[in-house]
Amino acid sequence: VSQAPLVVVSNRLPFILARGLDGRLERRQSAGGLVTAVAPVVIECKGTWVGWPGTYEMRPGEAIPESDAGDQAPTAGLKSSQVVAVNVAKDKFDAYYNGCCNGTFWPLFHSMPDRAVFKADTWNAYCEVNEEFAQNTLAALRATVAKLDAEGRVNVAPIVWVHDYQLLVAAASIRKAAEEEGLRFRLGFFLHIPFPSWDIMRLFPWDDQILQGMLACDVVGFHIEDYCLNFIDCCCRRLGCRVDRNQMMVELAGRTVHVKALPIGIPFERFVELAESAPKVLKTTEEKTILGVDRLDYTKGLVNRILAFELLLEKHPEHIEKVTLLQISVPSRTDVREYRQLKEEMDQLIGRVNGRFSRANWSPIRYIYGCVSQNQLAAFYRDSAVALVTPLRDGMNLVAKEYVACQIREPGVLILSPFAGAGGSMHEALVVNPYELDQVAETIHRALSMPLDERELRMTQLRRRERKNDVSRWLESFLDAMDGVNDETSLVG
Ligand code: UDP
Ligand code: G6P
Repeated sequence: VSQAPLVVVSNRLPFILARGLDGRLERRQSAGGLVTAVAPVVIECKGTWVGWPGTYEMRPGEAIPESDAGDQAPTAGLKSSQVVAVNVAKDKFDAYYNGCCNGTFWPLFHSMPDRAVFKADTWNAYCEVNEEFAQNTLAALRATVAKLDAEGRVNVAPIVWVHDYQLLVAAASIRKAAEEEGLRFRLGFFLHIPFPSWDIMRLFPWDDQILQGMLACDVVGFHIEDYCLNFIDCCCRRLGCRVDRNQMMVELAGRTVHVKALPIGIPFERFVELAESAPKVLKTTEEKTILGVDRLDYTKGLVNRILAFELLLEKHPEHIEKVTLLQISVPSRTDVREYRQLKEEMDQLIGRVNGRFSRANWSPIRYIYGCVSQNQLAAFYRDSAVALVTPLRDGMNLVAKEYVACQIREPGVLILSPFAGAGGSMHEALVVNPYELDQVAETIHRALSMPLDERELRMTQLRRRERKNDVSRWLESFLDAMDGVNDETSLVG
């Protein structure tokens, strides 16, 4: 059977639109793992992608450009007719994105409520923008159903797939209108960040609307079982839903919602290929590199990481002039105060540590505040002796997986926080609590001294697992879950 058409809805489109020198809109690539996996399926099933184009410059009615001739990105085959740009006025988008998404939900869902700001006006903007996404999605769904009808595929129900914390309440409007209009559809949601416990969730004044928004779907997916159980618990305690924790089902208003743990993977083979072809970028000396790669975000544990590295140099001075920490920090959400403060804090801290330990020909920390190309990134992964992935909390963390994929030569060591979703399955990593600085320093020391056979044993197993559970497998599991919706037992009746 051919795949039912997919209508993917995410805050960002799978490419960014920007105006070129000639004044025309162009597609610029923003290829992450999700796009790599999902775009080919959207292309294949003649589906649609609904999202924000990354610019306020689109004029009303202005067309989305087709891809350029030489476009190598996974979205190259995505025709402009398959893309719906949700254009939101700048002020409203600002209140929604900087205010509510990243000022409220990001810290709250990462269990850092002290950083969260609760404001009625940004929440209202959030609801309004979600409504705009919902209306655009409904238009796409109507067109999709009409096309299926015209083709005689009257038994095929399109799949609407909503992504992440920016769109927690969009599904409610989509279901209501689609049911009223008698459109056939299946509705799925995937959360790419953690789902917090009831104790944290209840701090949000409008938590019931969030839960109801998510429960408008047939399938709600999370990375790991803990997040599923938190969600089910919230539905039970806040909304009084009937729930089944074994079957992972929640009932609301006579409908059964299936809750699934679907851990995302990476395009493993693509990273292997990059690692095989990427030229060397690190110095060819005896010096070992410890690598960190993160968006500059307070959830990533960057301050603790630098402090732990400082402790390592203090307690094990034999590493001085023998190792460097290469930290790549990708600028992120710079309109939000917490992110700007972190930038300042990191600049100062790294300056202090470098000032304290640098020699004439060596500095302990090399710090890149910016993006690096995929090729460079693969080379950094491949040639680093240690990867430090130490978030305080993280939905999954793809960097950990990309690092192991690129270990095609003498294997290095992955150091991983148990508070990343990836910590639940990458058992052969050295797992360390990022709050225990002494322990982190000792673990780095252990990684730097680990014998080759132990490194090989651990890395082989890590790579085997990630190769098997790659991002296409994740996508298949989600589509299987959507297909299973009607066959599975229901809590109702
Ligand atoms: N990444 C990138 N450019 C860079 C550094 C990182 O595109 O200069 C990518 C990296 O390859 C990874 C993603 O950013 O796929 C980060 O994903 P992760 O799950 O680790 O964290 P998130 O940023 O989603 O919180
Ligand atoms: C995380 C979120 C994504 C988000 C990405 C980059 O991975 O789960 O939804 O797109 O960070 O953040 P940004 O705010 O730049 O979209």
